[in-house]
Amino acid sequence: MAENTRRDFIKRGALGTAAMLVYPPSRVLGANDRVRVGMIGVGGRGQELLKQVVGTPNAQLVAIADIYTRSRDEAKRMAPGIQTLDDHRRLLDMKDIDAVIVASPLHIHSRHFLDTLAAGKDLYSEKTMTWSVAEADQCLAAAKNSNRVVQIGLQHESSGSLADARKWIKDGIVGKVTQVESWMSRNSPHGKGQWVRQVPPDCTAQNVNWKAFLNGRPDREFDPFKFINWRLYWEFSGGNVTENMVHQIAWIMTALDLPEPSAAFMSGGVFSEKDGRQVPDTIVVTLEYPADTVVTWQSTFSNSHYGLGERLLGSDGTIEHISGATDMVTGRSAEGIRYYPESVNRHNGTALTGETPNQNHMANWIECVRSRKTPNASVEIGYRSAIAAHMANMSYRRKQRVTLEMAKTLQPES
Ligand SMILES: NC(=O)c1ccc[n+]([C@@H]2O[C@H](COP(=O)([O-])OP(=O)(O)OC[C@H]3O[C@@H](n4cnc5c(N)ncnc54)[C@H](O)[C@@H]3O)[C@@H](O)[C@H]2O)c1
Repeated sequence: MAENTRRDFIKRGALGTAAMLVYPPSRVLGANDRVRVGMIGVGGRGQELLKQVVGTPNAQLVAIADIYTRSRDEAKRMAPGIQTLDDHRRLLDMKDIDAVIVASPLHIHSRHFLDTLAAGKDLYSEKTMTWSVAEADQCLAAAKNSNRVVQIGLQHESSGSLADARKWIKDGIVGKVTQVESWMSRNSPHGKGQWVRQVPPDCTAQNVNWKAFLNGRPDREFDPFKFINWRLYWEFSGGNVTENMVHQIAWIMTALDLPEPSAAFMSGGVFSEKDGRQVPDTIVVTLEYPADTVVTWQSTFSNSHYGLGERLLGSDGTIEHISGATDMVTGRSAEGIRYYPESVNRHNGTALTGETPNQNHMANWIECVRSRKTPNASVEIGYRSAIAAHMANMSYRRKQRVTLEMAKTLQPES
């Protein structure tokens, strides 16, 4: 990590700690009051969330803040009644906003997270909760010291498949699970890199607040490609581990009630997408957990045959959760969860198919803002899944097995 980045990081840390001390009271919502929502960062994912919140009963989108003219214009077209702002701090100053959705790039999550809580608003923050372990510690502490409702954008925490898996485990028909396999696979058409987005002609230094995007990273000339394709670079991203593994690992950790991993190892490389990106396209992660469990996650961007899924291998039964050859993000696949008994320990056991419907993750958040209950993807699972992802990336970048203790003390690398 460059020295000025480290200084900025420490400074941001200090700001975060200061922010934790002040929590203005929230508005008490009456039975007929709508939750008034603001959004920070309304790009690809933000626009999907915008549609969701606009379609949620008892919620009203009031304003959005984004540093790129195109994102502001597109949001305004989608929800003409809203106010559009170019600075998230102005949005957080608005007294008529109760709750805020953050869908900015990964390296800015913790700033938007801490600022939102300090402004006394409830929060929906996209995954991965933070870019680094230290930021995850700060955000968890801030959330715990506040009485704010926090939902993380890990929508599979609201899935019926997770409810089914938890029920089977609780019913005792799975037995002791010592091993979990999980995988996620995609393919890219020849000549087109996975995740690569074209830079729109209006993506210029005039139309983008580049300094706000850099968020304390070393200053440099505007780079439209990096601004649009931040996912490909460590400075702003955690690669596929923070983009996709985090969804599956959160699902597995919730199903099995796992704490943070005790150690992580990750290998792989940039093997298929040779376009100058830094984050690997081919990945094998091993996560060790304290209670005799090891979890693996594999991913590739050059073969989609096996889609994605998780297999929980228990002494008394197997849980297999499979999505077709698409991904967790779009959800466009025939998803299914099944239980298969292990005949050596459950002679008369029968196979089961999960049937619990998914809950609406956005509606769950809005309901919790009203009821003050804990949402399905709490800050704790946001934290534990973020730590797992960061440990994996640290291992890959240092080419060594990383324990939880090491992860807590090592400096993040930009
Ligand atoms: N839960 C999911 O399934 C899911 C799916 C896709 C993306 N995501 C997450 O959503 C987040 C955004 O991803 P994306 O694909 O929408 O990225 P994006 O680049 O398309 O959008 C990011 C938006 O944030 C804006 N922005 C950048 N810096 C800002 C700042 N300082 N203040 C305000 N706005 C700022 C950009 O102008 C842009 O409009 C990421 O964390 C990603 O991992 C989650």
